[in-house]
Formats: sequence, C-alpha cells, structure tokens
Amino acid sequence: MDIGIDKIGFYTPKKYIDIVELAKARKVDPDKFTIGIGQSKQAVPLEYQDSVTMAAEAADQIISKDDNIGLVIVGTESSVDESKAVATFLVDLLDLPENIRSFEIKEACYGATAGLKMAEGFVALNPDKKALVIASDIARYGINTPGEVTQGAGAVAMLVSQDPKILKFDHEEVYMTKNVGDFWRPTFSKTAFARGKFSNQIYVEFFSELWKKYQNDFNQSVDDFDTMLFHVPYTKMGMKALKTLKDQIDPDKFDSLSKNYQSSVQMGREVGNLYTGSLYLALISYLINGDPKDNEKILLFSYGSGAVGELYSATIQPEFKNNLDSEKIKKVLKNREKISISEYENIFNESPANGYITRDTDVLDKFYLREIKESERLYKKMDH
Ligand code: COA
Repeated sequence: MDIGIDKIGFYTPKKYIDIVELAKARKVDPDKFTIGIGQSKQAVPLEYQDSVTMAAEAADQIISKDDNIGLVIVGTESSVDESKAVATFLVDLLDLPENIRSFEIKEACYGATAGLKMAEGFVALNPDKKALVIASDIARYGINTPGEVTQGAGAVAMLVSQDPKILKFDHEEVYMTKNVGDFWRPTFSKTAFARGKFSNQIYVEFFSELWKKYQNDFNQSVDDFDTMLFHVPYTKMGMKALKTLKDQIDPDKFDSLSKNYQSSVQMGREVGNLYTGSLYLALISYLINGDPKDNEKILLFSYGSGAVGELYSATIQPEFKNNLDSEKIKKVLKNREKISISEYENIFNESPANGYITRDTDVLDKFYLREIKESERLYKKMDH
C-alpha cells in the first residue's frame, strides 16, 4: 500500500522583522545576516499566539469533515503545558471527532519526522483512516544573542493517508541517535541554549554518516537524486551539509542539487526558523518554487539536536499540484506587516500570565489564546 502526505498546509504569523534592520540594530554587518546566515525576514508571533494557535491555523487549511482522521500528533519543542498535549487542544478548535488518538511528540527539530513515521505505521494498520501530523514551533534564543538571527515561528500541517496525492514515503530510511549537548531548553527557560557551531558540526556529521549508510543499505548513489531537502533553521545550514558532497561528485550534479536547494529554502529565508517544521517548509518551498518532476524521488534529511537524525526518500506524486494550495500558501507570506525592531523587542518581552485576557479587536488571526484563567490556557476561534 502506498502511504504518504496527501495534503499540506502552512502558517506563519502576520508580523515580521527585516533582517537588515536587525543587523543594524545589533551593529552587525548586514551581509553577515543576509549572506553568512542567509536570512531576509523573521516571523514575530503575537502575544496571543503559541504552538496551539499556529498548529490550528495550519491544519485548518487542509482538513475537511469527510477526512476520517484517527490520529493527531503535534511535533513541537515549544509546548504550552508540561502535561496536556497541544494536539488535545485542537480537538475543539478544529471540530475533530472524539474517536481519535491525540498526543504531542518531542525531540527538538526531529519531532515532525517522528510523527510522520508513526502516522505511516498507523495508516498501514488502519488503511481507511488518516493521520494529522503538525509541526508547530516558536524559535526563541533571546534578544542580542548569537542565535537571535535564527529565530522564527510557524507551523506545517500534513495529512497522512493511503494513496497520497503529494508525497509517497518510499520506506527507504536510515536513522541514528547520539546523546549530544548541542542545543537544549530546560523547563525553566523560555529561550534555548545552543552551542551553535558545535550543533552545525554534529548536523553535518550526522548527514555524512547517514548518507553513507543510505547508499550502502539501498544500493543507491547521488545519481538517483536531483533534489535533497534539509532541515534548515537558517538557509546556510543545509548548504553546509550539501557542500560535503561537492568534491565527490560531478560539478554539474552539484550545481543542479544546489539550484534545487535554493528553491527549497526560498520560503524559509522569509520566515526564519520553524524548528521541527523547517524541513517540511523546505518541501513546500521546493514544490512551489522549484521544478519538481512527476514521480521525482527526493531525499529528506531530518535533524533534531540532542540528537536524532533521519535520512529518507520519498516520491513526488503526479497529482501534487491539485492537493497543494500554492496560492493560499503564497498569500500567507504576502499578507504580512513589517514591524520595527523595538516593536519586536516589546512583543518578545511580553509573557502572558495568569489573568491574561486578549482583546478580540487586537486579533488578526482565526485562532487565538483568549485568556489564562486559574493558570489554564483557554483558546478561541474567531469568526472574522
Ligand atoms: N559577510 C558575509 N558573511 C559573513 C560576514 C560578512 N560580513 N561576517 C560573517 N559571515 C559569515 C561567517 O563566515 C559564517 O559563515 P560560515 O558559517 O559559512 O563559516 C557565518 O557568517 C556566521 O558567522 P559566525 O561568526 O559563525 O556567526 P555567529 O558566531 O554569530 O554564530 C550561529 C552563528 C548560526 C552559530 C548562531 O546564530 C547560532 O548559534 N544559532 C543557533 C543555531 C542552532 O543552535 N541551531 C540548532 C538547531 S539545528
């Protein structure tokens, strides 16, 4: 049975900052941020937004009443509760039936891939059902930190089913785990701790090791692929892994892989880091901005600090254009407002606490945190 991604939706907040303005405010050469890091804009989530509201926004674009959803998994490392899963809040917000399993999955930026692999197994056992897998995150390093330029926010929702119309999983996958201290966020902290350069090094090492293993296990080589998609917390990062192939392959092959890489990071450059959604935004970006071929076999590299890596192949389905609402996705990026660096700093420092209430008139989105009462987060759907 063919199993994979049948539909895919994307959401990012409606406010952003310009990376050149951020560089100037931090007294850094803008080329470092736009070329050295490779970013142009960075999404800024509003006070009423979190991993629940963004997950709802992305999923709302792709699900319908007729979908027989039996499983909802949210991959996130920016959860709102130590006990209750983000996925559970979605049952009300998205009018999902009660006869579903719902839970949250965490392993840094690997979470969504873990969710997809579980969803694949679920659909294999329950072919009449679909699974909703959502990556939803806010990447926070802190104002005036080295990681600040690699912040961002957003969600990618994917409906996994049999006979998928966008991407079929090939079941050719290699994975590995090592206990590494490259990035972590203790429960007491709202911002991440990162050994950024060490993280880059581990990421590249994981890719190299997995690529070797993949070729060996499945008797394939770079000639089998024109497109490799990467986890891209900032657009320069995937290129570091891709460049490890440069001296081993024909220059024309490297150029075509680089060209497809650039189309896959076009959207990430405009929003910044989605953490676990970053790889799947690269997929969307490649499908919309690249030159994907029917039945093209692509390679996806997923990496979650800590660290888990997985390299797997999948095949683009001939009907993908009918199930990917590229106009809606482009609109999500277009209908945004630039804010100043000081406005962003004020928003960043806001922290809704018990007693918090959102004024409905301030809400620009469909789903929002309405209030925090008795320390319980209560969400609402706005009928604009
Ligand atoms: N023009 C062009 N490029 C420039 C430049 C300029 N004026 N100044 C610096 N650069 C380049 C550097 O050469 C470097 O390129 P390289 O990575 O290809 O070597 C790049 O810009 C970054 O410069 P660097 O001095 O290494 O930046 P930094 O010390 O500020 O750290 C990160 C950058 C990415 C390590 C930091 O932002 C970070 O820690 N981010 C968090 C990343 C993370 O932890 N991710 C984990 C999830 S996978």
